[in-house]
Formats: sequence, C-alpha cells, structure tokens
Amino acid sequence: MPFGSSGPRVGRWEVMHDHHGPVLRRVEIDADQIDPVWNPAAAEFVAAANAVSLLMPAVEPYFAGAVRRALPDLEPTLAGIARTFVRQELEHQRQHRRFNGRLIERFPALARPEARSRWIYGWLSRTRSLRFSLAFAAASETIAYSLARWTSDHLAEFLRGADPAATDLFVWHLAEEVEHKSVAFDVWAAVDGSRWRYARAGALSIALLAWLVLWSIALQMHSEHRLRSPATWWRTGRLLVSFAFEVVPNLFVSSLPGHHPDQFCDPDWYRHWLVDLEQRRPVASPDSAGRRAS
Ligand SMILES: [Fe+2]
Ligand SMILES: [Fe+2]
Repeated sequence: MPFGSSGPRVGRWEVMHDHHGPVLRRVEIDADQIDPVWNPAAAEFVAAANAVSLLMPAVEPYFAGAVRRALPDLEPTLAGIARTFVRQELEHQRQHRRFNGRLIERFPALARPEARSRWIYGWLSRTRSLRFSLAFAAASETIAYSLARWTSDHLAEFLRGADPAATDLFVWHLAEEVEHKSVAFDVWAAVDGSRWRYARAGALSIALLAWLVLWSIALQMHSEHRLRSPATWWRTGRLLVSFAFEVVPNLFVSSLPGHHPDQFCDPDWYRHWLVDLEQRRPVASPDSAGRRAS
C-alpha cells in the first residue's frame, strides 16, 4: 500500500514516526526578520537557497491547486493525506513569502525573476490539464526531495555561522518535503500514472528551476560585487554540479515503470529534527492538537 493507514495515533512520538502521513505545523519563525545574507561565510550557498525561496510562492500554490482539484477523484484515506499535503505546501509558501519581502528589499533586482516565476507557474496552472499539472507536481516533489537529500550532505552551510532562524526556515521546509515525498506521486498515480507525462513534466520542471535559480543567483552575486571573483564561480559551479548529480539520477529512476518514492532512502535525521523544532519554537499543529491533549 503506497500510503499510510488512518488508524488512531495518540502521541506526538507516534505522529512523528508515521513515515507516510504528513502533519501540518504552523511554525513561528519570524521569517520577515531574517537577514537576506544569513550566512556571510557561505555567500554562494545562501544565494542559491534564497533563489529557491523566491520561487516558492509561485510554485507551491500550483502544486497545491492541482492536488486540491484531484481530491474528489481520490479514495478517502489518500484524500485526507492529500489535504494535509496541500496545507503543508501553502504554509511553506506563506513563510517564504514573508522572507522574500526582506530579500527583495535587499536585492531589488530580484523582483524581476519573482514576477516572471509568478507569471510562468500561473500560466501553467491556467492552461495545462489536471493530468499534466499532477505529473508536474509529482516530479517536482522528487526534485524537492532530492534537494533535501543534497542538503543533508551540505548541512554545515546551514549550521556553521548561519542565522538560526534561516536554518529553521529552510530545514523545516526540507524536512516536511521528506515527510510528504510520496503524496503528490500517489495522487498522480491514482488519477493518471503516465510515466511518459511524468518524465516530460519533470524535464520541464528542472529546466524552469535551473533558469530561474541561476538568474536569481547571478543577480545576488552581481549586487554583492562577486561576479568577477573566480572563487565565487568555482564554489557556485561546485554546488550546482553536485546538486545535478543528486537530482538527475533521482528524476530518471522515478520515471521508470514500477518505481515509487518510498523506495528512496531518506536521511533519517530530518524527522528527529522536526521533533526538536517543535520543542524550540511555538508550533501550532491543528492536526495533532487533539492527540497532544489526550
Ligand atoms: Fe514545500
Ligand atoms: Fe512538497
């Protein structure tokens, strides 16, 4: 069975150890207070993470809208999981939107790629079929999951000298991407399941991501007067190539018949980190409130 049971869960520990059902957490991060250069010792990494953040308010509502449109076609257990997935994604983009306001104040040129991404993903959501949009969401979730796996190997950039609020914003998001890695895939499989459509949508998603992220990185590096530095080009190139080695094989494998995201091996620490986050920051979790009280 590709998704989890809906049986009773009575405590936070059990909730956090359910690999299949995502949990909605409303985390108080004060994202609009984060310095856009949140780790001066890792400027290229920061620029890449910021570039991804800039896309979220355009990308995540597209995925959420596609999955929401599919809800009437899903059986009840998957529909319940998919509803929580939608709320998680909308919460992610809400926090990124707050951070992006600070980002554009610091780097006004980023308003252009931000507006372009809103136009592109808005156009996709208005003009593409539900089947294509679900394939796009499922493949993009594999990209997000790959980003979480890649980040797991570059954690020092988030921890060594970084603003802890920025670490919490990005790592919370990535941890929930790992938590819900299968949901859009299961929804796409229930409604469509065409691997050819999935592969084409994945290729489009990675091409758009590469273009918009590279554009935003270049604008930040230009503003910081780093574009003439060979070290900047070397470090940025190394980051991008190493991510390509993570995401391209994952997308390829996930396009093959019979593959399911549950077959990917998760970095285990993310779910423990989410437990720690709940202890450190106020987390309103409507889904688990009743369980905590019991
Ligand atoms: Fe997300
Ligand atoms: Fe996601």
